[in-house]
Amino acid sequence: MKRSAKPQPVERIRINRYLSMCGAASRRKADQLIQEGKVEVNGKVMTDLGTKIDPRRDKVFLAGKQVARVHEYVYLVMNKPRDAITTLSDERGRTTVMSLMHSKQRVYPIGRLDRNTTGILLFTNDGDFANRLMHPTHEIPKSYRVTTDNPVSREHLDRLRRGIRLEDGMTSPAYVEVLPGGKGREVGITIHEGRNRQVRRMFEELGYDVKKLDRVAYGPVSKEGLARGATRSLTRTEIRTLKELAGMSSTPTDG
Ligand code: URA
Repeated sequence: MKRSAKPQPVERIRINRYLSMCGAASRRKADQLIQEGKVEVNGKVMTDLGTKIDPRRDKVFLAGKQVARVHEYVYLVMNKPRDAITTLSDERGRTTVMSLMHSKQRVYPIGRLDRNTTGILLFTNDGDFANRLMHPTHEIPKSYRVTTDNPVSREHLDRLRRGIRLEDGMTSPAYVEVLPGGKGREVGITIHEGRNRQVRRMFEELGYDVKKLDRVAYGPVSKEGLARGATRSLTRTEIRTLKELAGMSSTPTDG
């Protein structure tokens, strides 16, 4: 006689985790929204942060709109070209990274690159993954190739390594090296933070004009062999390493 499949135990999860998994908000932001009475579960407003839900059955609404869980996660890397802006849409008709992205699933960029910065930009529909990678506590290393107007002095290389005082505080120690063949005007820098325009501001603070800025690595992800403007899927190893760096254990929600 054929044995029927055993029903899987239901994993009940907190509402903030559910909202984060769906990409609707970070956990912290979700807590705030719950306390503000903006979250409904099966038609009832929930303000208790400890409430757990069954993600397979319960219907969660945020500000009146249903928040649905994604069933197939995708993880992509684009080699962003110059002049593409990292917004979902632009009312002035400028090229956005979304217009270069040809994914069947709805994905969105993880963090941002300035309009004139080129290189690695990750995309996903896994909200928890995106929120964790962007969270400063995880300190994911990001490497850039910086081209400056003038050769960078030894003293300035040391200051970049030790930390630069910017208006939003000291930068943490960075790995910095002069790249061969660039006449002292090409510098590789690896930072573990992701403040707004951080690399440009670090060099500007020392009096350099950043002529080119290219993100060449994001954790284990490189853009070798990926043409400008092109996108590829991350490999399993890249996804696993990024999840480890972001403190994500292997859960049934992993892609
Ligand atoms: N630092 C910058 O200054 N710009 C970017 O786009 C990324 C990092």
